[in-house]
Amino acid sequence: MTTKQGLDDRARRILTQNDRGGYTVPTDGLYPYQWNWDSAFAAYGFAQFDTARAWQEFYWLFKGQWDDGMVPHILFHRTDPGYFPGPDVWGCNGPIPSSGISQPPVAATFMRKVLEKDPQAGLAHVAELFPKLMAWHKWFMDWRLDRGAVCVTHPWEAGRDNAPDWDKAMAAIDPVGVGEYTRRDTSHVDASMRPTKYDYDRYIWLVQLGRSLNWDQAALLEKNPFRVADPTLTFTLLRAHRDLKVMGQAIGADTSLIDSWITTLEAGAKTLWNEEVGCFDARNAHTGEFSGVLSNASFLCWLAGVDHPRMRAHLTRILAAVPYGIPSLDPAHPEFDAKRYWRGPTWAVMNTLIGFGLEDEGLTGEADELRAQTCKAIARHGFAEYFDPLDGSPAGGGSFTWTAAVWLGWAGRSAAAVENEGVLG
Ligand code: DGY
Repeated sequence: MTTKQGLDDRARRILTQNDRGGYTVPTDGLYPYQWNWDSAFAAYGFAQFDTARAWQEFYWLFKGQWDDGMVPHILFHRTDPGYFPGPDVWGCNGPIPSSGISQPPVAATFMRKVLEKDPQAGLAHVAELFPKLMAWHKWFMDWRLDRGAVCVTHPWEAGRDNAPDWDKAMAAIDPVGVGEYTRRDTSHVDASMRPTKYDYDRYIWLVQLGRSLNWDQAALLEKNPFRVADPTLTFTLLRAHRDLKVMGQAIGADTSLIDSWITTLEAGAKTLWNEEVGCFDARNAHTGEFSGVLSNASFLCWLAGVDHPRMRAHLTRILAAVPYGIPSLDPAHPEFDAKRYWRGPTWAVMNTLIGFGLEDEGLTGEADELRAQTCKAIARHGFAEYFDPLDGSPAGGGSFTWTAAVWLGWAGRSAAAVENEGVLG
């Protein structure tokens, strides 16, 4: 019999088992290092039962911060031959061996949530971490803007690796000279749930390009054919600026620079509006062309404090059509693929971020519904990396840190509401 208590215990055990002594791996095997945004979710999970450990996660993340402020998407604290592409492929020179790109900057948002759990001792941690967050946010503002929207320079930077948002920009890459390599992800997880070889060749080609330019941002700006203004980065950074400002005020720091960043991104978010599809969409910074994709990242608008009546209409439609949360791709899109990673599956972590936005926007009915749907997916099918949005079946890696974390912080709160549906005993 599955009970709320039993699920809480399992979630805590997953976090503890994935703890490598200060930082947490997303899951054993498939992702054996510290991933940037996974790590912020991990801190949120730990904060539900061990705030001291939650703060550690951030310190370990910022150990890898580069001189220019960038915080890499993977920190290779200890080499693990089970993962490709490892530190030798990236060829980076930061303080910790790392990848050369960043990831959605949700750290400030979750740090604020950890502070709320630990208001007294937490302020000293915020004071120490605030300048590091400022430097990272500034790096995005310096190097990643297009018309005020935030761009990704590699699909992995959005965290939504194989989302159809990138299809057109990826098609413009000819991965000539990429050479032979052995993928490791498909030895951990069924290939039908992972990106294709077509995508992977281009991921690796982009890594090789960055390496050949010594990860120099000015050179990359000139030479990288892949530069897409992205709803994930734009909305998470806008939200993160707002959270950083609140934390800055709490420690008496000057926050005027953050105000100007917020104004810039508020204007930039508008440039992601695709009137034809009626949604916030990715936009190719080189060609100006929209992707024509309603994704789960489009629904992060409310997280950033940005509303639109047509997004509300999409939300109502999708919540009614799909039982397990917001799919990574509109189920009405021809490319929808219920099990393939970011081309259809529902992700508990994205549902959580969307849910935070809905709660802040006062859309409490929708927030409750989304939380209950996510709760059911986890209660019925475990702490999977992601889920089939139509039947809830688990996909990708298991015993996943971020799914366990959002169970403890958010989705588990709906346990009582779903009990009468026979989900919990
Ligand atoms: C991978 O290796 O699949 C990751 O998503 C890269 O961050």
